Amino acid sequence: MQILKLFIFILGSYIALKLPGLLFSIPIPSSLVLLYLFFITVITVLVMTTSESSAKKLFAPVIAIVTEPSKRRTRNILFAVLPFLAALLTYFAILPDGGGGSINGFRVVHPAPPSAIKAWGRTYDLTALENPLRVFKSSDPKLFKRYVKEGGDIYFSNCFFCHGAKLDGRGQYAHALNPRPLTFQGIDTIAQLQESYVFWRVVKGGPGLPELSAPWSSSMPVWEEKLSEDEVWKVILFIYDYTGNSPREWSK
Ligand code: HEC
Repeated sequence: MQILKLFIFILGSYIALKLPGLLFSIPIPSSLVLLYLFFITVITVLVMTTSESSAKKLFAPVIAIVTEPSKRRTRNILFAVLPFLAALLTYFAILPDGGGGSINGFRVVHPAPPSAIKAWGRTYDLTALENPLRVFKSSDPKLFKRYVKEGGDIYFSNCFFCHGAKLDGRGQYAHALNPRPLTFQGIDTIAQLQESYVFWRVVKGGPGLPELSAPWSSSMPVWEEKLSEDEVWKVILFIYDYTGNSPREWSK
């Protein structure tokens, strides 16, 4: 059967395209594999249908299954199994690899934070932690301004590539990332959060997120490795100050 040959040939090509990845750990990007498979399929079909008789031979089994009354049973089974297979494939494609229970579109953006974190050799109780520099906003506005400015310098040497020059989540790397870097503008992100929460997110980054925020590995770096505690508090002052947001406060 010609059509079987076509399938086997495409399957063989697929395996051949996957081999470099399987054998030498140098995979061909899946978008390229798809592109090659597309051309391989088109060209093979063209070659196999150069004459009218060869075209007939190729498609005869397909036409028979769809039209011949005697093939009704096969047809019904096929038309039930194919959509089911497609549904199954789609289901597995959106399933999180981390098994965190969230699927496409339902990633939890603000999961519950841990009650305490360890960083820089200290334990921080997130349920009571406050930004130690925020008091200067009222007690020493000049010093506060300096801290905000220093926070800005930290932001523009570390964060703006992803979170954007306007803090709107549109840094030059942003379009390549999934999940996208979050905006700090508007009322949906840091405006809803306590500074202790933001502190946790900056210090522990994407790898510090709980299972709930699987499947996509967030590219948000772990900043405890690069910044000091002081610098983290300053950059947090800056992102609130620049966007005109105030952190959510502990209810007294
Ligand atoms: C490589 C890109 C990248 C860099 C650089 C980066 N971030 Fe992120 N950031 C992300 C991504 C992606 C997310 C969204 C996914 C997540 O929540 O982890 C995020 C999320 C956050 C959040 C959580 C906001 C919320 O509403 O939950 C904060 C806060 C944050 N980043 C602050 C910073 C700060 C401060 C810096 C610089 C010190 C920084 N980020 C640098 C990619 C980046």
